[in-house]
Amino acid sequence: MADLLEVRVKSVAYEADGILSYDLRPAGSGAAPAFSGGMLPAFTAGAHIDLHLAQGLVRSYSLVNPQDERLRYLIAVQREPESRGGSRQMHQRLHPGDLVTIAPPRNNFPLAEDARHSILIAGGIGITPIWCMAQRLESLRRPFDLYYAVRRRALAAFLEPIEAMAARRPGTVHLTFDAEGGAMLDLGRLVAGAAPDVHFYCCGPLAMLDAFEAATAQRDRAVVHTEYFTTREVPATEGGFTVVLARSGRNVPVPPGSTIIDALFKAGVDVPHSCLEGVCGTCETKIISGEPDHRDLVLTDAERAAGKTMMICCSGSKSATLVLDL
Ligand code: FES
Repeated sequence: MADLLEVRVKSVAYEADGILSYDLRPAGSGAAPAFSGGMLPAFTAGAHIDLHLAQGLVRSYSLVNPQDERLRYLIAVQREPESRGGSRQMHQRLHPGDLVTIAPPRNNFPLAEDARHSILIAGGIGITPIWCMAQRLESLRRPFDLYYAVRRRALAAFLEPIEAMAARRPGTVHLTFDAEGGAMLDLGRLVAGAAPDVHFYCCGPLAMLDAFEAATAQRDRAVVHTEYFTTREVPATEGGFTVVLARSGRNVPVPPGSTIIDALFKAGVDVPHSCLEGVCGTCETKIISGEPDHRDLVLTDAERAAGKTMMICCSGSKSATLVLDL
């Protein structure tokens, strides 16, 4: 896989119960040319990096720090009780001084910086890309509101700088701790009260994203932006079609019970991947011909309609043959 970089963990910090942040710096000698001038590859608010961990695990984490910082990447990792190994490995085994391999930043959740007004909504660890966006909008002096819903204060990452922002921008930052007597965030009301050209961004647990999708269903899709950490879609495992790898001309049958990426792995074809759920965009692959059956949560409606790319970890095919740029 091309373009991987090595970074060093400068520090690990406690951010909230179950959440640690990792400050990643250029690794120095032996680093890839992307570290020209000692700087890391540039990113924009909403971007994430993929960390390549032990045992072949690849995990995506949003960048939290302001995008004009070129000497570090800051990520935050919540220890998931249902962890498939990624967050557990990070919390237990990644320490200051360690080297980590990463893929450079990619952005599936870009910020429309020229919007007249933006409403940023975060639930729990979903604050990571949202906080990056809030810092960016503040630095650009663009108007926005930040809504951050967490069950309890002790679970709220980056609370100190967010409360500092609340103090310097009264009325802009709205914190909700619903298990401590705070009201639940009413997304329906929030969206209904906003002007038609307001841009909405939401990242959080599935229940919040579902409520957000329902609340924004009547809005122009161009102003509605979401970032998922987990999927609610069922992957396409119906199979019964053939993937043609255009670069080698190889045919890989996808049998029932298998995703495209599983069939490729079985055939010994390695492709970039991370979440394997259709939420990170790492496996995005160009379609040369055929009709995909999209099951991801990354592509917008317009991108799906264009039919140029697909996520091969979860999406299938409606046509008997799918020719991919692999
Ligand atoms: S591996 Fe994450 S979208 Fe496919």
